[in-house]
Amino acid sequence: MKTISFVNMKGGVGKTTVALNVADCLARTHGKKVAVLDVDPQFNATQCLFTPDAYVKMLKAGEETILDVFDTDVKTLASVVSGAATVEPKEISEIQLRKSGLLWTLPGNIELYRLEMVAGEGREFSLKRFIEQAIAPKDFDYIIIDTPPTPSIWMSSALIASDYYVIPVRPDPLSMIGIDLLRSIIERRRKTYGLKLNCLGVVFTMVERPDSVNYSTARQNLKENALWKDKVFASYIPKRTDLARQQLEQPFMLKMDDFDLRTNLKNFVSEILEKIDDK
Ligand SMILES: Nc1ncnc2c1ncn2[C@@H]1O[C@H](COP(=O)(O)OP(=O)(O)OP(=O)(O)O)[C@@H](O)[C@H]1O
Ligand SMILES: [Mg+2]
Repeated sequence: MKTISFVNMKGGVGKTTVALNVADCLARTHGKKVAVLDVDPQFNATQCLFTPDAYVKMLKAGEETILDVFDTDVKTLASVVSGAATVEPKEISEIQLRKSGLLWTLPGNIELYRLEMVAGEGREFSLKRFIEQAIAPKDFDYIIIDTPPTPSIWMSSALIASDYYVIPVRPDPLSMIGIDLLRSIIERRRKTYGLKLNCLGVVFTMVERPDSVNYSTARQNLKENALWKDKVFASYIPKRTDLARQQLEQPFMLKMDDFDLRTNLKNFVSEILEKIDDK
């Protein structure tokens, strides 16, 4: 089982879109058993996987979300009738994933925003424990983690839980500025926590035209940089307005009538499999 996080401190670079589509391609094309974990309080990946109705129903039925992984405090419920009562947190090993199409997932939860303000002992290790205790025994091949665009406790917990990370970037000068800083922040976390974490590389997303000046300049700059030259995926993700337009109803590139887009995604996923030696 391999765990891969998609990270970038810049917002809107395509992390969620790429993470979901890599997960889908691993399952659909390569027959892998894949779990998607959404540790972004914005929970966009979850919104792509479930309709609003289905999601609200799930919450009302008390089904588990990512909040149960991180919120491990005993809660006190004050009741006028019966006095105060306490609610024990769920055992992390008993938290269940849900199926959505070909993928398994633990849905995200906007309440992560609330939790970010509250101190919690060792909370950044909870996701790793959840993966070890609840997912690993169920024979998954891949766990794909979508992260928020902030160097938050959620990003740390994803990195601590991961074997690998991928950095999606847009090929424009502003998007490229932050990636050195991102890598140094991640390197620091790697040392602080003694992580085995490996950088798989940078993948360009939302590429309008592969022969455009923006794209070739961005690639060239990375290829000439000692830190990055071996860390650039040959494949890229093309920009498609249809993808953005229909994302909440149908987020998967492989289900779109667009041969070029499907081929680019498949090539990218093949590169990932090659890099982690899973052919
Ligand atoms: N290849 C693409 N072509 C066209 N639009 C895209 C593509 N990839 C992503 N988008 C759109 O760009 C926007 C940002 O994408 P996405 O949500 O995947 O980025 P993100 O990095 O996860 O953002 P955030 O930092 O907010 O989590 C979304 O509206 C999405 O539909
Ligand atoms: Mg996102």
